[in-house]
Amino acid sequence: MAAMRVKRKATASAASHLRSTAKEPGHEKGEGKITRALKPTVSIIGVGRLGSALALALQACGYSIEAIAARRLSHAQRAARILDPPPTHVLSAARLEQFPLTDLTFITTPDDSISHIAAQLAARVAPIASGQTALHMSGALSSAVLRPLADVGYSIASLHPLISVSDSVRGAKSLRQAFYCVEGERQAVANARRIVRDFGAQSFTIGAEHKTLYHAAAVMASGHLVALFDAASGMLAQCGLSQARARTVLLPLVQSTIDNLSTHEPAHALTGSFARADVETIRRHLNALSAAAQSDELRNALEIYILLGARSLQLAQRNGASRAALKEISNALEEATRSMKQCGKAKSGGRK
Ligand SMILES: NC(=O)c1ccc[n+]([C@@H]2O[C@H](COP(=O)([O-])OP(=O)(O)OC[C@H]3O[C@@H](n4cnc5c(N)ncnc54)[C@H](OP(=O)(O)O)[C@@H]3O)[C@@H](O)[C@H]2O)c1
Repeated sequence: MAAMRVKRKATASAASHLRSTAKEPGHEKGEGKITRALKPTVSIIGVGRLGSALALALQACGYSIEAIAARRLSHAQRAARILDPPPTHVLSAARLEQFPLTDLTFITTPDDSISHIAAQLAARVAPIASGQTALHMSGALSSAVLRPLADVGYSIASLHPLISVSDSVRGAKSLRQAFYCVEGERQAVANARRIVRDFGAQSFTIGAEHKTLYHAAAVMASGHLVALFDAASGMLAQCGLSQARARTVLLPLVQSTIDNLSTHEPAHALTGSFARADVETIRRHLNALSAAAQSDELRNALEIYILLGARSLQLAQRNGASRAALKEISNALEEATRSMKQCGKAKSGGRK
């Protein structure tokens, strides 16, 4: 199908828009008077947690949000209501053939549907000159997933914010303070970096081949931190606190740990029993966790404690803790692992 060109804010391509804003961010000078520089036009497919926050953040920086789409029209309409002015095109995924061609196209749907949507969009666009950029914001996938769009003339890149976004308004604020991992084709990367600079944020680059490992690191630092917090809350609930109270009393502890991490490297930020190499205390922890592991809620708490304990031992060693005490702790962790496995075998044998 022929390329669909729609009302554009300017005749110049995305690249030239971006070049003009690069000279004077937000403004450009013309014969003695300062006029507002034109920012690129934007369309966003997928306006859930991240896409709607992105729309708000871009709009606040002067970008023109021309079109948004969600799987369900009602969800696209809900996202449109928080934008001022609202986009001219508000569509469901079933109407992507009506999606306009804009300077920047973001695909911010769940990771698994990005390649399908890229192919769907590309099928509608006849080979175009150049200047349009397509971006996705997945941490796990490289820009290669947008290849069908590159084949019809888009410049492609991935732009991943190292931030957790759960609602649009707070998310828009967080997006302006995030670090962004950018990877892809030269023109698209330059355009992505321009957005990051407009946000007042910072970017860095990794090779496309490292994206999966990079993303696993992000999951460890964010999602797994939440899972760890949940396990600790479950342990306090076992001590008689309500889940809500458990979360409340643990939060300042977590916050102070994050504060320590922001000023010290991990070996120095580590406090507590492993940093002090308190052998007997750690033995008692292991016993208490083995006993608590009978409850479904705490089944894997002992396993988590042992695994992260082994990592803490490395940090404590780097920080100069007693080698003999660390060796005793290491033995206690190994012993606990063995009993846990034997217990697991006995249980599965019992089920046969
Ligand atoms: N949230 C974060 O913290 C975060 C952080 C960094 C990167 N990311 C990345 O951002 C992307 C989106 O994540 P999210 O958390 O914002 O997901 P989300 O909240 O689930 O939102 C997904 C959006 O995509 C729409 N969608 C789903 N399938 C679609 C299709 N086939 N066609 C068109 N639209 C479709 C959904 O529409 P409906 O609402 O109608 O279902 C929804 O608007 C992912 O690539 C993710 O890796 C997210």
